[in-house]
Amino acid sequence: MNKIQLNFHKSKRKELSELIGKDSIAVIFGNTLRNKSYDGDYLFKQYKNFYYLTGFTEADSALLIAPGEVTLNSGSKKIKTKEVLYVQPKDEKMETWNGKRLGYNNVRKVLGIEYSEVNENISRLLSYHFLKNYRRVYLNIAELLKLTGDMKRIVSDFLNILNRIAPHTEIIDVSYIIGKMRSVKTEYEIEKIKKASEISVNSYNEILKILKPGMTEFEIQTELEYYYRFYGGEEVAYHPIVAGGENACILHYEKNDQKLTGKHLLLIDSASEYNYYCSDITRTFPVSGKFTPEQKEIYEIVLKANKECIKKVKPGVRFSEIGKLSEKVLADGLNKIGLLKDKSEIKKYSLHGIGHHIGLDTHDAVPSSVTESSDTDTLKPGMVLTIEPGLYFTKEMKEIPLKYRGMGIRIEDVVLVTKGGNEVLTKEMVKEAGEVEEKMSITDL
Ligand code: GLY
Ligand code: MN
Ligand code: MN
Repeated sequence: MNKIQLNFHKSKRKELSELIGKDSIAVIFGNTLRNKSYDGDYLFKQYKNFYYLTGFTEADSALLIAPGEVTLNSGSKKIKTKEVLYVQPKDEKMETWNGKRLGYNNVRKVLGIEYSEVNENISRLLSYHFLKNYRRVYLNIAELLKLTGDMKRIVSDFLNILNRIAPHTEIIDVSYIIGKMRSVKTEYEIEKIKKASEISVNSYNEILKILKPGMTEFEIQTELEYYYRFYGGEEVAYHPIVAGGENACILHYEKNDQKLTGKHLLLIDSASEYNYYCSDITRTFPVSGKFTPEQKEIYEIVLKANKECIKKVKPGVRFSEIGKLSEKVLADGLNKIGLLKDKSEIKKYSLHGIGHHIGLDTHDAVPSSVTESSDTDTLKPGMVLTIEPGLYFTKEMKEIPLKYRGMGIRIEDVVLVTKGGNEVLTKEMVKEAGEVEEKMSITDL
Protein backbone atom coordinates (compact mmCIF):
# COMPACT_ATOMS: atom_id res chain seq x y z
CA MET A 1 0.00 0.00 0.00
CA ASN A 2 1.49 3.36 -0.93
CA LYS A 3 1.84 6.27 1.46
CA ILE A 4 -1.11 8.24 0.07
CA GLN A 5 -3.41 5.27 0.58
CA LEU A 6 -2.04 4.55 4.08
CA ASN A 7 -2.63 8.17 5.02
CA PHE A 8 -6.14 8.12 3.59
CA HIS A 9 -7.25 5.14 5.71
CA LYS A 10 -5.44 6.52 8.76
CA SER A 11 -7.19 9.87 8.39
CA LYS A 12 -10.56 8.10 8.25
CA ARG A 13 -9.81 6.17 11.46
CA LYS A 14 -8.86 9.46 13.09
CA GLU A 15 -12.04 11.14 11.88
CA LEU A 16 -14.19 8.31 13.22
CA SER A 17 -12.31 8.43 16.56
CA GLU A 18 -13.07 12.11 16.91
CA LEU A 19 -16.72 11.61 16.04
CA ILE A 20 -17.35 8.82 18.56
CA GLY A 21 -15.27 10.40 21.36
CA LYS A 22 -13.08 9.11 24.16
CA ASP A 23 -15.89 7.51 26.12
CA SER A 24 -16.77 5.15 23.24
CA ILE A 25 -15.23 2.27 21.36
CA ALA A 26 -16.06 0.96 17.89
CA VAL A 27 -15.70 -2.64 16.75
CA ILE A 28 -16.17 -3.03 13.03
CA PHE A 29 -16.16 -6.49 11.50
CA GLY A 30 -14.95 -7.22 7.96
CA ASN A 31 -16.68 -9.65 5.62
CA THR A 32 -16.43 -13.44 5.46
CA LEU A 33 -16.58 -15.77 2.47
CA ARG A 34 -20.05 -16.57 1.19
CA ASN A 35 -21.09 -20.00 0.01
CA LYS A 36 -22.46 -20.25 -3.52
CA SER A 37 -23.26 -23.96 -3.60
CA TYR A 38 -21.87 -27.11 -1.98
CA ASP A 39 -18.16 -26.35 -1.44
CA GLY A 40 -17.96 -23.44 -3.88
CA ASP A 41 -17.86 -19.84 -2.65
CA TYR A 42 -18.46 -16.47 -4.27
CA LEU A 43 -15.40 -14.36 -4.92
CA PHE A 44 -14.54 -12.66 -1.63
CA LYS A 45 -15.39 -8.99 -1.30
CA GLN A 46 -14.48 -6.92 1.72
CA TYR A 47 -17.18 -4.86 3.43
CA LYS A 48 -16.73 -1.34 2.13
CA ASN A 49 -16.94 0.44 5.52
CA PHE A 50 -14.22 -1.84 6.85
CA TYR A 51 -12.13 -1.21 3.74
CA TYR A 52 -12.65 2.55 4.12
CA LEU A 53 -11.05 2.44 7.55
CA THR A 54 -8.28 -0.09 6.92
CA GLY A 55 -7.60 -0.77 3.22
CA PHE A 56 -7.39 -4.43 4.27
CA THR A 57 -8.95 -6.98 1.91
CA GLU A 58 -8.57 -10.28 3.82
CA ALA A 59 -11.60 -12.11 5.15
CA ASP A 60 -12.36 -12.73 8.84
CA SER A 61 -10.99 -9.50 10.26
CA ALA A 62 -12.22 -6.87 12.69
CA LEU A 63 -11.10 -3.39 13.68
CA LEU A 64 -11.23 -1.91 17.18
CA ILE A 65 -11.10 1.85 17.53
CA ALA A 66 -10.68 3.20 21.05
CA PRO A 67 -10.19 6.98 21.00
CA GLY A 68 -9.59 7.02 24.77
CA GLU A 69 -7.03 4.17 24.56
CA VAL A 70 -7.47 0.59 25.78
CA THR A 71 -5.13 -1.57 27.77
CA LEU A 72 -4.74 -5.10 26.46
CA ASN A 73 -2.92 -8.06 27.92
CA SER A 74 -0.28 -9.41 25.60
CA GLY A 75 1.28 -12.37 27.38
CA SER A 76 2.70 -10.86 30.55
CA LYS A 77 2.88 -7.37 29.03
CA LYS A 78 0.21 -4.66 29.09
CA ILE A 79 -0.29 -2.83 25.81
CA LYS A 80 -1.92 0.59 25.56
CA THR A 81 -3.36 1.32 22.13
CA LYS A 82 -6.04 3.28 20.27
CA GLU A 83 -6.54 0.80 17.45
CA VAL A 84 -6.32 -2.94 16.98
CA LEU A 85 -6.75 -4.96 13.80
CA TYR A 86 -7.86 -8.55 14.41
CA VAL A 87 -6.79 -10.81 11.54
CA GLN A 88 -6.79 -14.46 10.49
CA PRO A 89 -3.99 -16.52 12.02
CA LYS A 90 -1.16 -17.59 9.72
CA ASP A 91 -1.84 -21.14 8.52
CA GLU A 92 0.59 -22.75 6.11
CA LYS A 93 -1.87 -25.35 4.87
CA MET A 94 -4.73 -22.93 4.24
CA GLU A 95 -2.37 -20.46 2.59
CA THR A 96 -1.34 -23.17 0.10
CA TRP A 97 -4.98 -23.49 -0.94
CA ASN A 98 -6.21 -19.91 -0.75
CA GLY A 99 -3.21 -17.57 -0.86
CA LYS A 100 -1.00 -15.75 1.62
CA ARG A 101 -2.32 -14.19 4.79
CA LEU A 102 -0.76 -11.04 6.17
CA GLY A 103 -0.57 -12.23 9.77
CA TYR A 104 -0.75 -9.97 12.81
CA ASN A 105 3.03 -9.49 12.95
CA ASN A 106 3.00 -7.57 9.68
CA VAL A 107 -0.04 -5.37 10.24
CA ARG A 108 1.74 -2.35 11.67
CA LYS A 109 4.38 -2.31 8.93
CA VAL A 110 2.02 -2.92 5.99
CA LEU A 111 -1.18 -1.19 7.08
CA GLY A 112 0.07 1.37 9.58
CA ILE A 113 -2.42 0.20 12.21
CA GLU A 114 -0.96 0.47 15.72
CA TYR A 115 -1.53 -3.01 17.07
CA SER A 116 -2.80 -6.40 15.89
CA GLU A 117 -3.92 -9.75 17.22
CA VAL A 118 -5.50 -12.91 15.83
CA ASN A 119 -9.26 -12.75 15.35
CA GLU A 120 -9.97 -15.42 18.01
CA ASN A 121 -8.90 -12.91 20.65
CA ILE A 122 -11.63 -10.42 19.99
CA SER A 123 -13.96 -11.70 22.71
CA ARG A 124 -11.18 -11.31 25.30
CA LEU A 125 -11.63 -7.63 24.75
CA LEU A 126 -14.93 -7.60 26.54
CA SER A 127 -15.34 -7.74 30.26
CA TYR A 128 -17.25 -5.70 32.73
CA HIS A 129 -13.98 -4.13 33.93
CA PHE A 130 -13.11 -3.21 30.41
CA LEU A 131 -16.47 -1.85 29.35
CA LYS A 132 -17.24 0.10 32.51
CA ASN A 133 -14.89 2.76 31.16
CA TYR A 134 -16.99 3.28 28.04
CA ARG A 135 -20.49 4.64 27.59
CA ARG A 136 -21.05 3.55 24.02
CA VAL A 137 -20.05 0.63 21.81
CA TYR A 138 -20.41 1.22 18.08
CA LEU A 139 -20.83 -1.93 15.95
CA ASN A 140 -21.65 -2.68 12.31
CA ILE A 141 -24.66 -4.60 13.58
CA ALA A 142 -26.48 -5.43 10.32
CA GLU A 143 -23.26 -6.59 8.66
CA LEU A 144 -21.93 -8.69 11.52
CA LEU A 145 -25.16 -10.68 11.66
CA LYS A 146 -24.45 -11.90 8.11
CA LEU A 147 -20.99 -13.32 8.85
CA THR A 148 -20.31 -17.00 8.17
CA GLY A 149 -17.77 -19.73 9.00
CA ASP A 150 -15.42 -19.27 11.98
CA MET A 151 -16.40 -15.64 12.31
CA LYS A 152 -20.00 -16.60 12.99
CA ARG A 153 -18.84 -18.33 16.17
CA ILE A 154 -16.41 -15.55 17.07
CA VAL A 155 -19.12 -12.92 16.60
CA SER A 156 -21.64 -15.01 18.49
CA ASP A 157 -19.29 -15.26 21.51
CA PHE A 158 -18.60 -11.55 21.24
CA LEU A 159 -22.31 -10.67 21.22
CA ASN A 160 -23.11 -13.05 24.08
CA ILE A 161 -20.51 -11.44 26.30
CA LEU A 162 -21.61 -8.00 25.22
CA ASN A 163 -25.20 -8.90 26.01
CA ARG A 164 -24.25 -9.94 29.59
CA ILE A 165 -22.60 -6.61 30.23
CA ALA A 166 -24.77 -4.54 27.93
CA PRO A 167 -26.61 -2.57 30.63
CA HIS A 168 -23.41 -0.62 31.21
CA THR A 169 -23.16 0.56 27.64
CA GLU A 170 -25.26 1.93 24.85
CA ILE A 171 -24.91 -0.12 21.65
CA ILE A 172 -25.16 1.86 18.44
CA ASP A 173 -24.91 0.90 14.76
CA VAL A 174 -21.87 2.62 13.30
CA SER A 175 -23.23 2.63 9.73
CA TYR A 176 -24.90 6.04 9.94
CA ILE A 177 -21.84 7.81 11.27
CA ILE A 178 -19.51 6.21 8.68
CA GLY A 179 -22.14 6.80 5.99
CA LYS A 180 -22.06 10.52 6.72
CA MET A 181 -18.27 10.49 6.53
CA ARG A 182 -18.44 8.67 3.20
CA SER A 183 -20.85 11.20 1.69
CA VAL A 184 -18.02 13.68 1.02
CA LYS A 185 -15.11 12.25 -0.93
CA THR A 186 -11.43 13.17 -0.57
CA GLU A 187 -9.14 13.90 -3.54
CA TYR A 188 -7.80 10.35 -3.21
CA GLU A 189 -11.29 8.91 -3.58
CA ILE A 190 -12.27 11.22 -6.43
CA GLU A 191 -9.21 10.05 -8.37
CA LYS A 192 -10.35 6.44 -7.96
CA ILE A 193 -13.90 7.18 -9.14
CA LYS A 194 -12.46 9.13 -12.09
CA LYS A 195 -10.28 6.18 -13.02
CA ALA A 196 -13.21 3.72 -12.72
CA SER A 197 -15.20 6.07 -14.99
CA GLU A 198 -12.40 6.40 -17.51
CA ILE A 199 -12.04 2.60 -17.75
CA SER A 200 -15.79 2.27 -18.23
CA VAL A 201 -15.94 4.97 -20.91
CA ASN A 202 -13.05 3.38 -22.84
CA SER A 203 -14.91 0.08 -22.75
CA TYR A 204 -18.23 1.56 -23.91
CA ASN A 205 -16.37 3.08 -26.85
CA GLU A 206 -15.17 -0.39 -27.82
CA ILE A 207 -18.81 -1.54 -27.80
CA LEU A 208 -19.83 1.26 -30.16
CA LYS A 209 -17.35 -0.15 -32.68
CA ILE A 210 -18.82 -3.66 -32.68
CA LEU A 211 -22.53 -3.34 -31.90
CA LYS A 212 -24.71 -4.62 -34.73
CA PRO A 213 -27.98 -6.48 -35.36
CA GLY A 214 -27.81 -10.22 -34.72
CA MET A 215 -25.57 -9.92 -31.68
CA THR A 216 -26.77 -11.21 -28.32
CA GLU A 217 -26.98 -9.20 -25.13
CA PHE A 218 -24.42 -11.47 -23.43
CA GLU A 219 -21.87 -10.86 -26.17
CA ILE A 220 -21.98 -7.18 -25.30
CA GLN A 221 -21.82 -8.02 -21.58
CA THR A 222 -18.75 -10.22 -21.96
CA GLU A 223 -17.01 -7.77 -24.29
CA LEU A 224 -17.54 -5.03 -21.73
CA GLU A 225 -16.20 -7.20 -18.92
CA TYR A 226 -13.17 -8.09 -21.03
CA TYR A 227 -12.43 -4.41 -21.73
CA TYR A 228 -12.85 -3.41 -18.07
CA ARG A 229 -9.97 -5.76 -17.25
CA PHE A 230 -8.05 -4.75 -20.35
CA TYR A 231 -8.18 -1.06 -19.42
CA GLY A 232 -7.12 -1.71 -15.81
CA GLY A 233 -10.33 -2.32 -13.89
CA GLU A 234 -10.60 -5.21 -11.47
CA GLU A 235 -14.21 -6.31 -11.69
CA VAL A 236 -17.66 -5.04 -12.50
CA ALA A 237 -19.09 -2.47 -10.11
CA TYR A 238 -22.47 -4.28 -10.34
CA HIS A 239 -24.02 -6.95 -12.50
CA PRO A 240 -24.30 -5.41 -16.00
CA ILE A 241 -27.69 -4.61 -17.45
CA VAL A 242 -27.55 -5.19 -21.21
CA ALA A 243 -31.14 -4.86 -22.32
CA GLY A 244 -32.45 -4.80 -25.87
CA GLY A 245 -35.89 -3.40 -26.72
CA GLU A 246 -38.52 -3.94 -24.07
CA ASN A 247 -36.05 -5.67 -21.73
CA ALA A 248 -34.89 -2.16 -20.85
CA CYS A 249 -38.22 -1.65 -19.07
CA ILE A 250 -37.12 -4.19 -16.43
CA LEU A 251 -34.98 -1.88 -14.33
CA HIS A 252 -32.64 -4.54 -12.98
CA TYR A 253 -32.77 -6.84 -16.02
CA GLU A 254 -29.87 -9.23 -15.59
CA LYS A 255 -30.40 -12.26 -17.82
CA ASN A 256 -28.75 -10.57 -20.82
CA ASP A 257 -29.54 -13.55 -23.05
CA GLN A 258 -31.68 -12.18 -25.89
CA LYS A 259 -30.78 -11.48 -29.50
CA LEU A 260 -30.68 -7.89 -30.71
CA THR A 261 -32.42 -6.83 -33.88
CA GLY A 262 -31.95 -3.70 -35.96
CA LYS A 263 -35.25 -2.37 -34.60
CA HIS A 264 -34.03 -2.43 -31.01
CA LEU A 265 -32.58 0.20 -28.82
CA LEU A 266 -29.93 -1.29 -26.53
CA LEU A 267 -29.75 0.04 -22.98
CA ILE A 268 -26.41 -0.68 -21.30
CA ASP A 269 -26.10 0.10 -17.61
CA SER A 270 -22.69 -1.14 -16.56
CA ALA A 271 -19.38 0.04 -15.13
CA SER A 272 -16.09 -1.06 -13.78
CA GLU A 273 -14.79 -0.97 -10.25
CA TYR A 274 -11.26 0.31 -9.68
CA ASN A 275 -9.39 -0.11 -6.38
CA TYR A 276 -12.72 -0.70 -4.63
CA TYR A 277 -14.34 2.45 -6.12
CA CYS A 278 -17.23 2.33 -8.59
CA SER A 279 -18.48 4.10 -11.63
CA ASP A 280 -22.03 3.79 -12.99
CA ILE A 281 -22.92 4.62 -16.59
CA THR A 282 -26.00 4.10 -18.71
CA ARG A 283 -26.21 4.78 -22.41
CA THR A 284 -28.91 3.78 -24.86
CA PHE A 285 -27.79 3.02 -28.42
CA PRO A 286 -29.72 2.16 -31.61
CA VAL A 287 -28.59 -1.36 -32.55
CA SER A 288 -28.87 -0.46 -36.25
CA GLY A 289 -26.59 2.55 -35.78
CA LYS A 290 -29.41 5.00 -36.46
CA PHE A 291 -32.29 6.12 -34.21
CA THR A 292 -35.76 5.87 -35.70
CA PRO A 293 -37.72 9.18 -35.53
CA GLU A 294 -39.82 7.98 -32.57
CA GLN A 295 -36.78 6.59 -30.72
CA LYS A 296 -35.09 9.91 -31.21
CA GLU A 297 -38.09 11.87 -29.94
CA ILE A 298 -38.03 10.04 -26.63
CA TYR A 299 -34.23 10.00 -26.49
CA GLU A 300 -34.11 13.79 -26.80
CA ILE A 301 -36.53 14.21 -23.88
CA VAL A 302 -34.41 11.98 -21.63
CA LEU A 303 -31.22 13.71 -22.77
CA LYS A 304 -32.73 17.10 -21.96
CA ALA A 305 -33.61 15.92 -18.45
CA ASN A 306 -30.08 14.54 -18.03
CA LYS A 307 -28.45 17.80 -19.12
CA GLU A 308 -30.76 20.16 -17.23
CA CYS A 309 -30.37 18.17 -14.03
CA ILE A 310 -26.58 18.12 -14.36
CA LYS A 311 -26.61 21.91 -14.82
CA LYS A 312 -28.38 22.18 -11.46
CA VAL A 313 -25.75 20.22 -9.52
CA LYS A 314 -23.89 22.60 -7.23
CA PRO A 315 -23.29 23.16 -3.52
CA GLY A 316 -26.36 24.17 -1.54
CA VAL A 317 -28.90 22.64 -3.93
CA ARG A 318 -31.07 19.82 -2.60
CA PHE A 319 -30.76 16.50 -4.42
CA SER A 320 -34.52 16.02 -4.06
CA GLU A 321 -35.07 19.29 -5.97
CA ILE A 322 -33.04 17.91 -8.86
CA GLY A 323 -35.29 14.85 -8.79
CA LYS A 324 -38.33 17.09 -9.12
CA LEU A 325 -36.73 18.97 -12.01
CA SER A 326 -36.14 15.70 -13.83
CA GLU A 327 -39.79 14.72 -13.51
CA LYS A 328 -40.84 18.14 -14.76
CA VAL A 329 -38.62 18.01 -17.86
CA LEU A 330 -39.74 14.45 -18.66
CA ALA A 331 -43.41 15.30 -18.11
CA ASP A 332 -43.22 18.49 -20.20
CA GLY A 333 -41.47 16.60 -22.99
CA LEU A 334 -44.05 13.82 -23.13
CA ASN A 335 -46.88 16.31 -22.82
CA LYS A 336 -45.57 18.27 -25.78
CA ILE A 337 -45.68 15.24 -28.09
CA GLY A 338 -49.10 14.23 -26.77
CA LEU A 339 -48.07 11.17 -24.73
CA LEU A 340 -48.96 12.55 -21.30
CA LYS A 341 -52.10 14.56 -20.68
CA ASP A 342 -51.88 14.59 -16.88
CA LYS A 343 -48.31 15.51 -15.95
CA SER A 344 -48.74 14.11 -12.45
CA GLU A 345 -48.70 10.64 -14.04
CA ILE A 346 -45.07 10.87 -15.12
CA LYS A 347 -43.92 8.34 -12.47
CA LYS A 348 -45.72 5.63 -14.43
CA TYR A 349 -43.11 6.09 -17.20
CA SER A 350 -40.07 7.44 -15.34
CA LEU A 351 -40.18 4.64 -12.74
CA HIS A 352 -37.15 5.56 -10.58
CA GLY A 353 -35.44 8.46 -8.84
CA ILE A 354 -32.93 10.81 -10.41
CA GLY A 355 -29.86 9.12 -8.94
CA HIS A 356 -27.80 8.28 -5.91
CA HIS A 357 -24.46 8.88 -4.28
CA ILE A 358 -21.63 6.75 -5.65
CA GLY A 359 -18.22 5.83 -4.28
CA LEU A 360 -17.08 2.61 -2.64
CA ASP A 361 -20.56 1.24 -3.36
CA THR A 362 -22.43 1.91 -6.57
CA HIS A 363 -25.43 2.93 -4.49
CA ASP A 364 -23.14 4.46 -1.93
CA ALA A 365 -24.04 3.63 1.66
CA VAL A 366 -24.55 7.23 2.71
CA PRO A 367 -27.59 8.80 4.35
CA SER A 368 -29.19 10.83 1.59
CA SER A 369 -32.87 10.13 1.80
CA VAL A 370 -35.22 13.07 1.42
CA THR A 371 -36.93 11.91 4.59
CA GLU A 372 -33.68 12.53 6.51
CA SER A 373 -32.79 15.89 7.98
CA SER A 374 -32.03 18.46 5.30
CA ASP A 375 -28.26 18.32 5.73
CA THR A 376 -28.16 14.85 4.16
CA ASP A 377 -30.09 16.06 1.12
CA THR A 378 -28.12 19.25 0.50
CA LEU A 379 -25.22 18.98 -1.93
CA LYS A 380 -21.70 19.77 -0.75
CA PRO A 381 -18.39 19.95 -2.62
CA GLY A 382 -16.82 16.49 -2.77
CA MET A 383 -20.10 14.61 -3.07
CA VAL A 384 -20.33 12.34 -6.12
CA LEU A 385 -23.75 11.52 -7.57
CA THR A 386 -25.36 9.87 -10.52
CA ILE A 387 -27.86 11.70 -12.69
CA GLU A 388 -29.93 9.09 -14.51
CA PRO A 389 -33.34 10.05 -15.87
CA GLY A 390 -35.21 7.46 -17.90
CA LEU A 391 -38.47 6.76 -19.75
CA TYR A 392 -39.92 3.30 -20.20
CA PHE A 393 -42.82 2.17 -22.40
CA THR A 394 -43.79 -1.49 -22.19
CA LYS A 395 -45.83 -3.28 -24.85
CA GLU A 396 -48.76 -3.42 -22.40
CA MET A 397 -49.11 0.37 -22.19
CA LYS A 398 -52.06 0.57 -24.54
CA GLU A 399 -52.55 4.31 -23.90
CA ILE A 400 -49.18 4.95 -25.61
CA PRO A 401 -49.16 4.87 -29.46
CA LEU A 402 -47.83 1.54 -30.73
CA LYS A 403 -44.74 3.00 -32.37
CA TYR A 404 -43.34 4.09 -28.99
CA ARG A 405 -44.02 0.86 -27.13
CA GLY A 406 -41.32 -1.66 -26.22
CA MET A 407 -38.50 0.75 -25.49
CA GLY A 408 -36.64 1.92 -22.42
CA ILE A 409 -34.21 4.81 -22.48
CA ARG A 410 -31.91 5.92 -19.65
CA ILE A 411 -28.89 8.22 -19.80
CA GLU A 412 -26.71 8.13 -16.70
CA ASP A 413 -23.62 10.11 -15.78
CA VAL A 414 -21.40 10.36 -12.70
CA VAL A 415 -21.17 13.93 -11.41
CA LEU A 416 -18.79 15.43 -8.86
CA VAL A 417 -20.02 18.42 -6.87
CA THR A 418 -17.28 21.06 -6.94
CA LYS A 419 -16.99 24.40 -5.11
CA GLY A 420 -18.12 26.28 -8.22
CA GLY A 421 -20.66 23.79 -9.58
CA ASN A 422 -19.86 20.35 -10.90
CA GLU A 423 -17.64 18.17 -13.04
CA VAL A 424 -19.07 15.28 -15.06
CA LEU A 425 -16.67 12.38 -14.55
CA THR A 426 -18.20 10.44 -17.46
CA LYS A 427 -18.23 13.39 -19.85
CA GLU A 428 -16.02 11.64 -22.39
CA MET A 429 -18.85 9.20 -23.14
CA VAL A 430 -20.91 10.58 -26.01
CA LYS A 431 -24.62 11.08 -25.48
CA GLU A 432 -25.85 13.49 -28.16
CA ALA A 433 -27.89 11.35 -30.60
CA GLY A 434 -25.88 12.60 -33.58
CA GLU A 435 -22.56 11.84 -31.89
CA VAL A 436 -23.68 8.32 -30.99
CA GLU A 437 -24.66 7.68 -34.61
CA GLU A 438 -21.41 9.11 -35.86
CA LYS A 439 -19.32 6.92 -33.55
CA MET A 440 -21.31 3.84 -34.53
CA SER A 441 -20.73 4.55 -38.20
CA ILE A 442 -16.95 4.26 -37.77
CA THR A 443 -15.87 0.65 -38.07
CA ASP A 444 -12.32 -0.51 -37.46
CA LEU A 445 -10.77 -2.18 -40.46
N1 GLY B 1 -26.68 0.54 -11.98
C1 GLY B 1 -27.68 0.77 -11.05
C2 GLY B 1 -28.13 2.15 -11.05
O1 GLY B 1 -28.01 2.83 -12.04
O2 GLY B 1 -28.55 2.68 -10.06
MN1 MN C 1 -27.09 4.52 -10.95
MN1 MN D 1 -26.57 2.50 -13.50
